[in-house]
Amino acid sequence: MNRKKPFFMTMLATIMLVGLIAGCGSNSNNGGNKPASGNATNEPKTENAATEAPPAADKKLVVGFAQIGAESGWRDAETDSVKATFGEDPGFELKFSDAQQKQENQIKAIRTFIAQKVDAIGLAPVVESGWETVLKEAKDANIPVFLLDRGITKGNEDLYVSFIGSDFILEGQNAAKWMIEEFGTGAQVNIVQLEGTVGASAANDRKKGFEDAIAGEAGYKIVYSQTGEFTRAKGKEVMEAYLKKDKNIQVVYAHNDDMALGAIQAIEEAGLKPGTDIKIIGVDGIKAAFEAIAEGKMNVTVECNPLLGPQLKQAILDYKAGKTLEKWIKSDEDVYFGQKAIDALPNRKY
Ligand code: AHR
Repeated sequence: MNRKKPFFMTMLATIMLVGLIAGCGSNSNNGGNKPASGNATNEPKTENAATEAPPAADKKLVVGFAQIGAESGWRDAETDSVKATFGEDPGFELKFSDAQQKQENQIKAIRTFIAQKVDAIGLAPVVESGWETVLKEAKDANIPVFLLDRGITKGNEDLYVSFIGSDFILEGQNAAKWMIEEFGTGAQVNIVQLEGTVGASAANDRKKGFEDAIAGEAGYKIVYSQTGEFTRAKGKEVMEAYLKKDKNIQVVYAHNDDMALGAIQAIEEAGLKPGTDIKIIGVDGIKAAFEAIAEGKMNVTVECNPLLGPQLKQAILDYKAGKTLEKWIKSDEDVYFGQKAIDALPNRKY
């Protein structure tokens, strides 16, 4: 009797083990997604199939983002927004490329994303023109492209799904509006315009919006207009050079806050008071501009929202869900000056 007990125990353990393996097997056939009870309810096959997650549902959406570079505080905020949005979502994988201000690098990055068969491409085009060939390649590969922040030459709307970003013409108009309200119609105002990257939609449109808005004001003269490449260093350099020739300026209109901040340094070094002797207008709404307004060195910043990661993600999800997207998903923005800027400073996100 005593000798039979171990044999009986071994048989019992074997039966239990086989049962356990069989149970595991049936669950893994469901992709391991369903509760163990899923197969024990004798559901009809069709319903079973319908409740089973299709293999693609578990697949991460791979997004390639061709960024311009890191020329400004605004650009850094946009990069952070995209990286945080996709990095924090386990349903996505982000492939990020920094083109260091070169269109050829952005084109290379897009071709790499196409070769990697990504699910979607985000592109912040450094300049407006020259995208037709590579975007056609993405289209032929059935990869949807989303333009982020800057646009491309008109007439190429079939090459991308949506443009997500600001109305740069309106930003230029709002800058001019503040200035005309400040000085009044009929005033004599000499303006230095610090332009953004040559060929960029943000530079072209901010220039157009501003110049159109002052066209009817004979006393408002742009005495000098030069690119400062959207950087603080170049904004300072251009302003320094101009102040050596002529100090009879009432306004600096900079296409972004970084160039405005560079110009402020140059004006101070030239012995003038920025914000008072020369009024300073910037675009972007970065925190440093709000601080300069609070210190009285800058007068106004026209907001341009860089926190576009969540909108890009939503647009990709909507597209994948078969929804029809707007061609231009516009950002909602404001203009900050005086007390309004000081009050908003503690809550600035970028
Ligand atoms: O395209 C948006 C512009 O690019 C921002 O105004 C500027 O700061 C950036 O570099």
